[in-house]
Amino acid sequence: MNTFVTNLAIMPFERLKPEVKAILEEKNLSVEHRLEQVCEVLRENIPYYDWVGFYFKNGDKEELKLSAFAGEPTDHTIIPFGKGICGQVAVSNKNFVVPDVKAQNNYIACSIHVKAEIVIPLFLNGENIGQIDIDSHTPDPFNIEDEHFLQWVNEEVAKILS
Ligand code: SME
Repeated sequence: MNTFVTNLAIMPFERLKPEVKAILEEKNLSVEHRLEQVCEVLRENIPYYDWVGFYFKNGDKEELKLSAFAGEPTDHTIIPFGKGICGQVAVSNKNFVVPDVKAQNNYIACSIHVKAEIVIPLFLNGENIGQIDIDSHTPDPFNIEDEHFLQWVNEEVAKILS
């Protein structure tokens, strides 16, 4: 890819950063409401982000609980550690990019339209306390720029949780 095309690809992320920061700084809103708005902004501005949600560790339990999301409601509001892409990231502490969900055997289907998924862990003081999860109806849409951008989003979210 030439530089011009690469820059075009990165631009939406750079443009969105100040918007995400502004939402997270709205101290008059609850954290959950701010996270919901972040999900909405990402879903509306990135054409291949069809469902965006934040899961967090559910108290002392070895499970994730859905906190805020944008897109179709899901039945999977609780996910045990180790189950599905989300549950695996809760244990591995690593980014998980899935270009083709059909190729995964440990996967929890939320919708028949979903073709790909990316899950990025969210760390607070070095501890994996949750994650951002994106589902896409486009096959193989995610690249390293998505990973970097979503890591940045999670770092910004961690700041309002501490
Ligand atoms: N597909 C996820 C479940 C959550 S939904 O995508 C909203 C998984 O396999 O963990």
